Amino acid sequence: MMKKFEKNGHTIIFGDAIEALSREIADNSINLIFADPPYNIGKNFNGRKDKWESDEDYLDWCYQWLDLCIKKLKPNGSFYVMTSTQNMPYFDIYLRKRLTVLSRIIWYYDSSGVQAKKYYGSLYEPILFCVKDKNNYTFNSEDILVEAKTGAIRKLIDYRKPAPTVYNPKKVPGNVWEIPRVRYRMDEYENHPTQKPIALLERIIKASSNEGDIILDPFSGTFTTSFVAKQYKRKSIGIEIEEEYVKIGLRRLQIASEYNGQILKKEPRSFETPIDEKQIMLNFSEE
Ligand SMILES: C[S@@+](CC[C@H](N)C(=O)[O-])C[C@H]1O[C@@H](n2cnc3c(N)ncnc32)[C@H](O)[C@@H]1O
Repeated sequence: MMKKFEKNGHTIIFGDAIEALSREIADNSINLIFADPPYNIGKNFNGRKDKWESDEDYLDWCYQWLDLCIKKLKPNGSFYVMTSTQNMPYFDIYLRKRLTVLSRIIWYYDSSGVQAKKYYGSLYEPILFCVKDKNNYTFNSEDILVEAKTGAIRKLIDYRKPAPTVYNPKKVPGNVWEIPRVRYRMDEYENHPTQKPIALLERIIKASSNEGDIILDPFSGTFTTSFVAKQYKRKSIGIEIEEEYVKIGLRRLQIASEYNGQILKKEPRSFETPIDEKQIMLNFSEE
């Protein structure tokens, strides 16, 4: 079963990624794909277990949708793909035979919680950045500049230039990205175990697409990719198999305000007072 929702250049497909990629997306039609699949590490996606019988089974499944993603990319398209640290080497070896891997990115985050006591806890997730044609792809480096710490803070002079000049205070980011994970108290938080931060998708979308481009995310979760695509005037297609997460997408992208008769609204978190309660308290204090 597959269901499609569409508004103002943003499409949500409620269904299986492989089926939707095969049946709903034209070949060579997508400018940018961001794929953040289940990692085969036992997360719980609204009851759907993120665990395959064996590593081989997981990889066989991944190779199917990786092939489809490659097929759907335009000749000048870019592909960013994530998976767990232990599976990424397989993705890398598989993809480097089919695409050009331009960067092996480390998304690093700190954590105050104890990660592990008898080994080194995991504080990063790998991202591969690949293109179909290494001589023809979008990379808007000027749109993603970050502070160059040495140049900006220490005001060093570069004597290698014909006339000595102060180091440039801005630079294109390297391949280690320090971006905090989405925490419960952050405004962007949604009820999903592996929601990716807006800041992570902002960098990817600004660098590797232009206004009006089509961005595809085959495992949308909370639809961060589509949400950011919309903010930056790109078009989006998001696929997701879990209905609860499709509802988050419909709300976040303002495609629908209700679903099967249910009003789509963000559930208040434990530290937030529900609107109705606030109103009751207000009425009470006015009496
Ligand atoms: C790692 S999460 C993606 C999180 C997302 N990037 C975000 O920012 O919220 C993977 C998602 O894939 C969905 N999923 C699992 N199997 C799927 C399938 N066969 N087809 C489509 N989506 C699937 C899960 O429900 C989960 O929401």
